[in-house]
Amino acid sequence: KSRDGVLEVTLDAAPGQVRIGGRNAATLGYNGGLPGPTLRVRAGDRVAVTLHNGLADPTNLHTHGLHVSPEGKSDNPFVMIEPGDSFDYEFRLPADHPPGLYWYHPHHHGVVAAQVFGGLYGAIVVEDPLPIPVTRERVLVVSDLTLNAEGSLARATVAERMHGREGELVLVNGQLNPAVDIRSGERERWRIVNACVSRYLRLRLDGQELRLLGLDSGRFGKPKKVDEVLLAPGNRADLLVTATEGVAALRAVPYDRGDDGMMGGSGGSSPSEVTLATVTVADAGSGGNANALAPIPRQATPPDLRGATVTARREFVFEMGMGGMMGGGGMGFTINGREFDGARVDTTVQGGSVEEWTLTNASRMDHPLHLHVWPMQVIERAGRAVDSVLWQDVINVPARSVVLVRIAFTGFTGKTVYHCHILDHEDNGMMGVIDVR
Ligand code: C2O
Ligand code: CU
Ligand code: CU
Repeated sequence: KSRDGVLEVTLDAAPGQVRIGGRNAATLGYNGGLPGPTLRVRAGDRVAVTLHNGLADPTNLHTHGLHVSPEGKSDNPFVMIEPGDSFDYEFRLPADHPPGLYWYHPHHHGVVAAQVFGGLYGAIVVEDPLPIPVTRERVLVVSDLTLNAEGSLARATVAERMHGREGELVLVNGQLNPAVDIRSGERERWRIVNACVSRYLRLRLDGQELRLLGLDSGRFGKPKKVDEVLLAPGNRADLLVTATEGVAALRAVPYDRGDDGMMGGSGGSSPSEVTLATVTVADAGSGGNANALAPIPRQATPPDLRGATVTARREFVFEMGMGGMMGGGGMGFTINGREFDGARVDTTVQGGSVEEWTLTNASRMDHPLHLHVWPMQVIERAGRAVDSVLWQDVINVPARSVVLVRIAFTGFTGKTVYHCHILDHEDNGMMGVIDVR
């Protein structure tokens, strides 16, 4: 928690032992566990993070979704911390930074999927200037991993690296199917991050009233009643749960994210249903809960970029093919025909401008596009205009479809990246470098 406008924290990335579902597991983690500590800050705060690398490979720290500088000791994806070394990050959140749930994870190209799968992730809360009236707030970090019989981390197969690895065990705050207790009539705020490497979470909590405050750093003016929420890897949901007596399961129900058209077209989707948590709502007896009844204040909504003057239009085509593989290069995961090269700049943008990007998915599998630092607004999906806009930093582009987004490149300049947030695809090259100046 930040104090007097400063958050100072040390994160130790290292292998460690944890208990998962009653067994010992040898995973990775920050400060000896998974997920890492939740960092709580406010707009305008200064943040100083010392990251120590106790891993066998290089690592670094990415503050996913934060609108902070991409340069120097800030959210710089090009920092490389060798095993045994430390790095002092230091940055400031702008005074008008949107409140919401963000997260942190490693970003050293080539080992991102393995390090996140291993257990390196944690939540960042940017507090609301005006608290939302609820009985309780919970941060739920959802992740997945696969353990071998002896409790060590399973290594991804070639097929899993193509499809995007999905773990056999789906964890909530590092636990298998934890029990959540609520009392009827209470209203809770659940802030959920999908920290899975590749798994989509189509979340349901049947029998309970769900209202969505927002997604990523975006807020609806008024919470929206929903039956389910789809979170691509990297997405977050800000959910109000109004409890009704009974037992309910927080479930991830099947979502078909397509296949890669290779290896017989198998895999790729999330075919099985998983129970993430068991929610027991007890009778509250007499006496109401004031917070459950208090109206939710109207939330600030972003400037609507549909009315903005667009200075540049670009297209980004996502493909996965055998080309690169056959050529002896990578696995053929490309944006505009090219695999990631950190020494190249793919996109140069004029600072302060608004751009419109056409995201074209030419493959048979969904790709969730993520841009660092500057959030995006979806304008059109599959040729149809959206009816409201939201700031989001991961936008799912379904298989064989086109999504139009607009981005305001304000606040900062510098070099950073955009990539598919199926982290295996990112490690395989589906990432580009953007220079805003
Ligand atoms: Cu959550 Cu570039 O990553
Ligand atoms: Cu990110
Ligand atoms: Cu992808």
